[in-house]
Amino acid sequence: MQVIKYMFQPHGDERGQLIALEEFNDIPFRIKRVYYMYDTVAGVVRGKHAHKSLEQILVCIHGTCKIRLDNGREKKVVQLEKPYEGLYVANNMWREMYDFSPDAVLMVLASDVYDEKDYIRDYDEFLKRVKENGDNDEN
Ligand code: TYD
Repeated sequence: MQVIKYMFQPHGDERGQLIALEEFNDIPFRIKRVYYMYDTVAGVVRGKHAHKSLEQILVCIHGTCKIRLDNGREKKVVQLEKPYEGLYVANNMWREMYDFSPDAVLMVLASDVYDEKDYIRDYDEFLKRVKENGDNDEN
C-alpha cells in the first residue's frame, strides 16, 4: 500500500511562511470543498468511513494528529505534524483520524461537495466492496 504524502513548498522570507495550494498544480484534483476540524476532544476517533469516489488531501495546519489508512488488506498510520505536509487519501480507502493534539486544526481539501451517498460507513460493507471490485489495488 502506497502512502502519498505531499511536501508543499513554503514561500518563506524574514516575515514567516506562506503556503499556496492550487488545484491540478499542488493538488491532483479540482478542489470543490474545504473543511476543517478543530477543538477535537481528547480520545476522539473521527472519520471511520471510506468514500466511493471522493479524493482528499489532509493537512494538519496546526498541531498534530494521526491518520490510519486501510485499503481492506493493509493498514498504515501516518502522523501529520507540519503545515507543509499533505496526505492524499484516495477513494475506497477507510480512514480514521485520532490522537489530535488540543491545538490541532485538520484541514481537508476535497474533490467534490458533501454527498452522504458517497460515504461507506459500514466497515464490513467496505471490505466486501474492495474485495468485489478490487479497484484499489494500486492504492
Ligand atoms: P462527519 O462525517 O461525522 O465527520 P468525520 O468524518 O470527520 O467524523 O461530519 C460531522 C458533521 O458535519 C455531520 O453532521 C455532517 C457535517 N458535514 C457537512 O455538513 N459537510 C461536510 O463537508 C462534512 C465533511 C461534514
